[in-house]
Amino acid sequence: MAQVAELIEMDEEQEEQEAQAETPAVKSAAKSKKDITALPGVGAATAEKLNIAGYTTMMSLAVASPGELVEASGITDAAARKLIKAARENMDMGFVSGEDVLKRRELVERISTSAGSLNTLLGGGVETGAITECFGEFGSGKTQIGHTLSVMVQKMDPASIVLYIDTENTFRPERIVQIAKGQGLDPEQILRNVKVARAYNSDHQMLLAERAEEMIAQQGINVKLIVVDSLTAHFRAEFIGRGTLAERQQKLNRHMHNLLRTADTHNVAVYVTNQVMSRPDVFFGDPTAAIGGHVVAHASTYRIYLRKGKKGSRVAKLIDSPNLPEAACAFFVEEGGLKDAA
Ligand code: GTP
Ligand code: MG
Repeated sequence: MAQVAELIEMDEEQEEQEAQAETPAVKSAAKSKKDITALPGVGAATAEKLNIAGYTTMMSLAVASPGELVEASGITDAAARKLIKAARENMDMGFVSGEDVLKRRELVERISTSAGSLNTLLGGGVETGAITECFGEFGSGKTQIGHTLSVMVQKMDPASIVLYIDTENTFRPERIVQIAKGQGLDPEQILRNVKVARAYNSDHQMLLAERAEEMIAQQGINVKLIVVDSLTAHFRAEFIGRGTLAERQQKLNRHMHNLLRTADTHNVAVYVTNQVMSRPDVFFGDPTAAIGGHVVAHASTYRIYLRKGKKGSRVAKLIDSPNLPEAACAFFVEEGGLKDAA
């Protein structure tokens, strides 16, 4: 550790010299309030390490934990604590009035699911600035909702971009085309604005989520929706057995918090899907439980439990919402999107 600290300090000295060679105008432009190199002790080398680890904005540092930073970038614990403190001071992360929170809530947009009953269940649609999790058995319609939202967000705002992280190779452009047509939209235009990335394992998936935040923060892309389908499949497949559970939950926790931070900082809707496992210990009620346990449950703002209903319908139940009553509704998956069960 000491060696790493020394290296960082040497880098900083070097960088200090480089910085002095720059013209003042260039320097002040580069060190805007949001730029992490404006923090004391963050030279180009440290900034690079932090960038690689996904900490590209002041906010991402301000809400990080020291352990997270140490693990991700190799800086010392003391350096990490100093950095977080400085970022927090810079961000003015004090208490805000309820009035300010309400003003922020006014910026929240709701993406229609194309089914009126499901929209009502969700208080108007899938919220920006929050994570909406949909869990349920195979074929229950989780992926279909992801596709539908990718189209509907563009019906709401034609300039919006969708980032779709596909872990199971179930993204189908053909479905996007069908739904776009069903909604009276230009399918080619809609497809152009859905940027898809295939995630090959859980690390790759986490990296893509961090990349998504970087793209939004640095390139100013108008991303309104991020889909992660499926959130838990890779984690479930890679971490097998009781002994690895703690590590899996830790990684999943970091992933969820990255997503939540992106949602919150950039007012983006995050839609994630999750499988269920059967619980042999449950004799009464529903013998299934969502994968990911409390980690996923707590980080998700809205949770929908989806199951197959009668006559090919789908039944959605809202669970644990901060501001909406627990309720259920039924709809059908159709070629042009979702449709209310009459
Ligand atoms: P897993 O990923 O396997 O856990 O399932 P999932 O919940 O993601 O299921 P998905 O969203 O893929 O739902 C698949 C189901 O949607 C199919 O069994 C069909 O019933 C339905 N579906 C998909 N496309 C269409 C379509 O074009 N028309 C109609 N009517 N139904 C469709
Ligand atoms: Mg699916």
